[in-house]
Amino acid sequence: MNKTILITGVAGFVGHALAKELLSQGWQVIGIDNLSAQTDEIRALKQLRLTECIGHAGFSFICQDIKNLSDATRQLLKERGVTQIVHLAANAGVRDAGRRIIEFLQNNITGFYMMIELARHLDVQRFIYASSSTIYGNHSDNRRDEFSFYPKNIYAVTKIADEFIAKIYADNHGLNTVGLRFFSVYGPYGRPDMAPWIFAKSIMRGETIRVSNHGNVWRDFTYIDDLVHAIIQVLESNPTGGGYHVCDVGSMSPRSLNDMIAVMEHYFHTTASRVDQQLTNEEAERTLSDMSTYTAHYPELSFTSFEDGMTRFCHWLEHYLAS
Ligand SMILES: NC(=O)c1ccc[n+]([C@@H]2O[C@H](COP(=O)([O-])OP(=O)(O)OC[C@H]3O[C@@H](n4cnc5c(N)ncnc54)[C@H](O)[C@@H]3O)[C@@H](O)[C@H]2O)c1
Repeated sequence: MNKTILITGVAGFVGHALAKELLSQGWQVIGIDNLSAQTDEIRALKQLRLTECIGHAGFSFICQDIKNLSDATRQLLKERGVTQIVHLAANAGVRDAGRRIIEFLQNNITGFYMMIELARHLDVQRFIYASSSTIYGNHSDNRRDEFSFYPKNIYAVTKIADEFIAKIYADNHGLNTVGLRFFSVYGPYGRPDMAPWIFAKSIMRGETIRVSNHGNVWRDFTYIDDLVHAIIQVLESNPTGGGYHVCDVGSMSPRSLNDMIAVMEHYFHTTASRVDQQLTNEEAERTLSDMSTYTAHYPELSFTSFEDGMTRFCHWLEHYLAS
């Protein structure tokens, strides 16, 4: 199998982890990212992630916006013989979506369309893309079929739109598409806008954390290495003609914010100072994955325990912030 892959959003949390693992396994990785950043903290992290990938001989980086790839880039991708695309570039984050709606719609829907159209143009064997647990809202355990959607925010709406676009490309153009619905991914090099980072950083520094719903918010937290393993199993499976597939990728064991805080208090040998806040209408109280569709197509995964994964994250963050 030709092992040349295009990863969009390669300087992001998931893209970087996936690229590094594939490079270590001998794949040729072409990564695209526009390196957009809302804060200096995010900018610095993206630079670090990118620097680690650039150190590998099999890595090529293109700094461009996916909505507007140059003709030279398209030509290069054709010449390099990209066989699969993992499309991760998007605006992520539920709360941000309500404040930057146009940007989310443009990057997550127009950007998605541009990438799936590129996949068709390059005639790739498979187009794998990131969807999200947010499409289920509060109803992750109340599904009739793959079209059971209960979005609570604009971000979720963009991911649902992407799944429908993928369906049209599968049905009308015979493109093999696999949508993976990620569930609250966490771990080293994670996102500064997500709860694990925000809480661990504040607890470490003795700052007060704002905790929604008295800590009774449950997420099916999924450790980054497990997610990367899941994506690679899809990449290594045999693409069978055209088709529309979507499946969850999650650890199937929701844990609460209180559980997360307890691991962090234990790691940092402290008691968190906390104030309560209401859960917003945009956020679900609980998410839960169902891996049955994934395991019907790919080998079963084993998952890192929440305590181990969160401890590894705290350890990494402590050293990262000290450096
Ligand atoms: N991390 C999670 O818990 C989680 C959960 C569900 C779904 N997802 C989805 O997984 C994917 C990866 O998420 P992540 O956590 O790595 O996010 P991230 O923000 O760390 O990475 C996304 C990357 O895409 C890039 N990007 C955004 N718009 C772009 C554009 N127009 N052109 C080029 N690059 C662009 C950004 O610069 C960023 O580096 C996203 O599609 C996200 O919606 C993530």
